[in-house]
Amino acid sequence: MANNRTFTMIKPDAFSAGNAGAILKMIEEAGFKIVAIKATQLTAELAGKFYEVHKERPFYGDLCTYMSSGPIIAAILEKDNAVEDFRKLIGATNPAEAAEGTIRKLFAKSIEANAVHGSDSDENAEIEGNFYFNQFERVL
Ligand code: CMP
Repeated sequence: MANNRTFTMIKPDAFSAGNAGAILKMIEEAGFKIVAIKATQLTAELAGKFYEVHKERPFYGDLCTYMSSGPIIAAILEKDNAVEDFRKLIGATNPAEAAEGTIRKLFAKSIEANAVHGSDSDENAEIEGNFYFNQFERVL
């Protein structure tokens, strides 16, 4: 079903700071159901594949180094209007511009170490979920 799933990562900064539980609590309290979840660590090569769309950006190399610097949590989430509602919940990419009460406002350290990732479209939610999870790793 389109329009009801998104994909998220709790990034190394938030995981290492011990904020994964608080972030997952906010996600569930906002009405998202966890469909798949795992703690894992990317290699720089896998981070490069995940963020390939940004490969021409000046921050790409640092982003791959950062995203492979420690454990993360990857999850598929379900809710009506999931992509848009989740992006509202996490706030702007740059935490300095994120609205009060959003996950990035509360937990992000910088524009790069910005606590969480959220898919930007239904199509990317599907691609990104499939990057991490096969059909046996989903409860729904
Ligand atoms: P995310 O939503 O996961 O998508 C791309 C990531 O690149 C973004 O979060 C940030 O972690 C990072 N990013 C985006 N813009 C910048 C920037 N200007 N400088 C450094 N990192 C950035």
